[in-house]
This record gives sequence, C-alpha cells and structure tokens, in this order.
Amino acid sequence: MTIPGVNNICVVGAGNMGHQIALCFAIAGYKVKCTDINEEILKKAENFADTYLPQRVAKGKMTEEVAKQARANISFTMDLKEAAKDADVVVEAILEKLDLKRELFAQLDEICPPHTILATNSSFIVSSKIAPVTKRPEKVCNMHFFNPALVMKLVEVVNGPHTSDEVAQKIFDLAKDIGKIPVMLKKEIYGFLVNRILAAINQEALYIYDMGVASYEDIDKAVVYALGHPMGPFRLMDLTGIDLSYYIGMERYQETGDPKHKPSPIIVEKFIKKEWGEKTGKGFYDYTKK
Ligand code: CAA
Repeated sequence: MTIPGVNNICVVGAGNMGHQIALCFAIAGYKVKCTDINEEILKKAENFADTYLPQRVAKGKMTEEVAKQARANISFTMDLKEAAKDADVVVEAILEKLDLKRELFAQLDEICPPHTILATNSSFIVSSKIAPVTKRPEKVCNMHFFNPALVMKLVEVVNGPHTSDEVAQKIFDLAKDIGKIPVMLKKEIYGFLVNRILAAINQEALYIYDMGVASYEDIDKAVVYALGHPMGPFRLMDLTGIDLSYYIGMERYQETGDPKHKPSPIIVEKFIKKEWGEKTGKGFYDYTKK
C-alpha cells in the first residue's frame, strides 16, 4: 500500500465484479468498504470473503497473516454514505445502466470529500457520460477490471477528456500497487481495448452458431483447442453474464444504428428467459449441477 493519499477504498456494487474487486484491494492492504443496495448480494459477497481467504491459505497461496489482515481490512454495509464518506477512491461496479450510474455519481459527489477519485468499472460506458453530473469531472475516470477480478491481471485505465493526467496516473499506479497489470488508454474509445477485441470474437461465434454451422460446445472447443484461449466465447459469455452481452449489444446498436451490433437472437432469447450464465445457474451451459 504505497500510493500517497490513498488509504480507504469504497467499492459500490458487490455483484459479479464488485465483490472480487473489493477483495483485491483488501488483500493488498487497503481499508475497503463494500456496499450494495441488495442485502442478499452483499451477504453473498461477505460469505465469499469468509470462504475465499481461508481457502487460499489452505491451498498454500496466501499466508494466514495476509488472509487475516485482508478480512480485517474489508467491511460490508448497505449504507452508501457510511461506505463512501471517508473514501480516497471509489470504484463503482453497479448495473451497466447509464442513468443508474449517473444517479450514483451525483450522490457520491455529495457524500465524498473533495479529493476523492470516482472511478467506474463499467465494461463499456465511458466516464465522460458520467462525469458531468459531478462537480469534480477531473477526478472521474474508468478503472476496468476483468472477470474473475481476483485472477485476471489486466486493468484498463481510461484518461477521459475531462480526467486530469494526475488522476489517471494515480489510478494506474493504484492498479499496479494491488498486483495488477494496468494499461493506459490515452483517449476514450467505446469498449476500450479488450471488449472491442472480445466483441469481434463473440459476434463471429454467435453468427456461426445462429447459421447452424456448429454447436456452441464445438465452437468453444475450436477456440480452446486451436487458439489456446482458456475458455471459448460461449463459456466466457456465461462467466461475464449474458445480460451484459445483451446490454452492450443494445447500447451499441442504439448508438450506431449498425445492425451488426444488435444482440443475436440467441442472446435475446436467453436474456428474456433470465438464462444469464453462471450468476443465474444457466446460460449456454448448466451450472446447477456443479
Ligand atoms: N474467482 C476467483 N478465483 C477463481 C475463479 C473465480 N470465479 N475461478 C478460478 N479461480 C482461480 C482458482 O482459484 C485458481 O487459482 P490458483 O491457481 O491460484 O489456485 C485459478 O483461478 C485457476 O482456476 P481453475 O484451475 O479452477 O480453473 P481454470 O484453470 O479453468 O481457470 C479461469 C479459470 C481463470 C476463469 C480461466 O478459465 C480463464 O482465465 N478464463 C478466461 C477469463 C477471461 O477471459 N476473462 C476476461 C473476461 S472479459 C471481461 O471480464 C470484460 C468485461 O468487461 C466483462
């Protein structure tokens, strides 16, 4: 923990990404308050911390001392004000809906001290769409982690047109300090680096599937056993959330009008059926028997 002026972190949203982002900071020695409006999700996040840390110790991947300290570093509360009032950095990881993010950032702007940096973990919403609701646009940026956040090393930091270089650099250094490999995007670009590349792969995989050329299992096999990816695109969509694939596609389609971004029929079907992947127990694959 070596970033000047950064001691307390607040993570808003304890879901798929937030609970692990919060733990990344706690393990690295930061004091973390993790908050969510959903009690069940928050309890699940706390239970995860209670099982994950001892498991790491049992596996020989973490010392007992680090695990104990990490658990002591992290707390969970439904009270946003309590969670954010003394934060030096806030990382927002709530639903991928712009109006909700704007509402939250306006609240955070009121709650947090003037020096607090407000970062969004959004997968595709650039922070210039959020920053104007605050009185501190120069302290708003994207800090984008990958799923599962405890494992994936990359963090994308986006230096938006409103973000000060100093703030973007601080977030870059913070990512490094918690053992991640940050990359700096000098300009805002939709989908940043990774999701642009991933979207191209997913679009092609879905097109081949919708054409009836091959099953999703076989397309996944092709990507794993020929391209060497750790998991195929369908398995990965299940991990990151089919709801997210739907939201990203819809937002991109509405923004560009380009039909190639429109969510494919199978994504729409699964979105409507709430077959969102691991988080709902079923996506392309079934996780209820795991
Ligand atoms: N949470 C925390 N840790 C996890 C985990 C999870 N959900 N899943 C696996 N791990 C850990 C395991 O504990 C294990 O750790 P150690 O080796 O230190 O003991 C390690 O990861 C490997 O796990 P497994 O052996 O069980 O499984 P694996 O080798 O199949 O790896 C995986 C699992 C890490 C998820 C791997 O399949 C992988 O890297 N998949 C690709 C993930 C990916 O591409 N992520 C980016 C998605 S894009 C995104 O996130 C952008 C966005 O905006 C949505």
